[in-house]
Amino acid sequence: MQTLTLTRPDDWHIHLRDGDYLPTTVGDVARSFGRAIVMPNLTPPVTTVPQALAYRDEILLNRPTGSDFEPLMTLYLTDQTRLRDIIEAAQSPQVHACKLYPAGATTNSEAGVGSIEGLYPIFEAMAQHQLPLLIHGEVTDAKIDIFDREKIFIDQCLMPIIARFPELKIVFEHITTQEAASFVAAQSANVAATITAHHLLYHRTDMLSGGMKPILFCLPILKRDIHQAALIRSATSGDPSFFLGTDSAPHPRSRKEDACGCAAGCYTAHAAIELYAEAFEQAGKLDYLEGFASHFGADFYGLPRHSDTITLEAVPWVPPIALPFGRDELMPLRGGETIKWRLVRPETGS
Ligand code: NCD
Ligand code: ZN
Repeated sequence: MQTLTLTRPDDWHIHLRDGDYLPTTVGDVARSFGRAIVMPNLTPPVTTVPQALAYRDEILLNRPTGSDFEPLMTLYLTDQTRLRDIIEAAQSPQVHACKLYPAGATTNSEAGVGSIEGLYPIFEAMAQHQLPLLIHGEVTDAKIDIFDREKIFIDQCLMPIIARFPELKIVFEHITTQEAASFVAAQSANVAATITAHHLLYHRTDMLSGGMKPILFCLPILKRDIHQAALIRSATSGDPSFFLGTDSAPHPRSRKEDACGCAAGCYTAHAAIELYAEAFEQAGKLDYLEGFASHFGADFYGLPRHSDTITLEAVPWVPPIALPFGRDELMPLRGGETIKWRLVRPETGS
């Protein structure tokens, strides 16, 4: 049987939520990933180190028995972020980055940043302390077409930040366009990007033709097929500027299938590494999966690569259509459909 063994991978961008959603989200991410960069967009957002540490404790309480999954915490930047918060974050071994959401760009970003220039003193301190800046890269002007928001963000916001702070480590999160892919490839090693499994596997026609599919609606929104192709080329290129970040972002079914507005976010944590394997295999580049999934992100964040491995086997399986999600349920990507690769569960003994 065909199998695939990789250094244990990490997920460099995930939404675990909180409260009674954690058993599902933490259980799923800990199946295959050793660590994950945990997004801070709770309500209210995680803006200080004490809040991040309390959130981390809550996540650890929900780890499956025997798991040593390690949540890597982040702070949510606001117009009120203080230099003191950055220094504390830089000194905390548990906090690994700060996240910039332009106000109104996506789910739970109402408290996000109104004036990016207003944060320049904060970026300066982050550069000094080698604390990476994670960016949701979309402009928020309602007049700008939703399919152009990422591309325009590059010129309007990202280029000025990089020009002013060349030493700042930046992750352009969940990129979705060929413009973002070629931009990142042309920057120094301080600028990287994460790419989701769903942006590698789907394009906007998959979401919109034959009836709108809420399960595929996320932000930044899926783009046309030429952009998907560019993302596949970047992810499978062996360029260490591109690494795995699922952006797995669960919402209760009622919020996804809401006639008054579908919540943005795709849930992939139940099958993430399997879905990436499928995308890499379709591109004929399975050999490049390990660098993307298990090496480049750790190198960028200055963390050791894992010394253990996971194994996938080519045994088709079908995830459930719905998963328990606190008192709700959630609709995972590919629920009820076949996935080719399956994670081999470690022997647990008898
Ligand atoms: C994310 C969420 O639901 O928190 N949604 C999404 O569509 N990706 C927020 C985000 O990362 O944009
Ligand atoms: Zn996200």
